[in-house]
Amino acid sequence: MDLEDFRREYLAPGLHRKDLDPSPFVQFESWLRHAIDAGLRDPTAMAVATVDERGWPSQRLVLLKHCDESGFVFYTNLGSRKAREIVANPRVALLFPWADMERQVRIEGCAERMGTAEALKYFLMRPRESQLAAWASAQSRPLSSRALLEDEFARLKQKFGQGRIPLPSFWGGFRVVPESFEFWQGRPNRLHDRFSYRRAEDGQWWIERLAP
Ligand SMILES: Cc1cc2nc3c(=O)[nH]c(=O)nc-3n(C[C@H](O)[C@H](O)[C@H](O)COP(=O)(O)O)c2cc1C
Repeated sequence: MDLEDFRREYLAPGLHRKDLDPSPFVQFESWLRHAIDAGLRDPTAMAVATVDERGWPSQRLVLLKHCDESGFVFYTNLGSRKAREIVANPRVALLFPWADMERQVRIEGCAERMGTAEALKYFLMRPRESQLAAWASAQSRPLSSRALLEDEFARLKQKFGQGRIPLPSFWGGFRVVPESFEFWQGRPNRLHDRFSYRRAEDGQWWIERLAP
């Protein structure tokens, strides 16, 4: 497939140093709000990149479920590939791919396991089918057939009946505590705007423009 001529101009207004909030969290929330208001399909979907013990990277989309100054939260199966890799090496990178808005946000930091109480609070808010699916799936493990998964889902549905579905011990959340952010805004002629925020030792954020 030849894609050499597949391109477009980025025409959105620029990103200026004077318009950036001193806090990358506030800047992020403002862009996330724009992405939601613009009707992007999955504005909270973010790629999470991890590395394995050989240094091989891998990434996948997950849904951001909470963000504030303490970090970016997502939930997953604790036996999954991503979770196992994070336990061995907590350094991760996040990417919000808001290409429809000619924007992307990159975040690098360390992931930490969230407490069971927080995970339980979120688990109980999920639709019942999602709770059952969390129980039914040994995420990232080989599965010999789809029927096995569906049978397990049906078995658990029967088992739990109308009662409360407990939090599986193998399911929980991670909070990514950022060390750096980058906000990218597409501009005409590939002269894009990029600003990085890096956490200084005094806890302040150091902002600088990067060449596109
Ligand atoms: C839009 C989208 C949202 C997703 N959200 C999640 C999520 O919040 N948590 C999760 O564990 N997997 C989510 N997935 C599935 C993951 O991308 C991935 O397939 C799964 O977590 C297994 O990844 P792993 O084997 O690298 O651990 C999502 C996939 C897509 C496309």
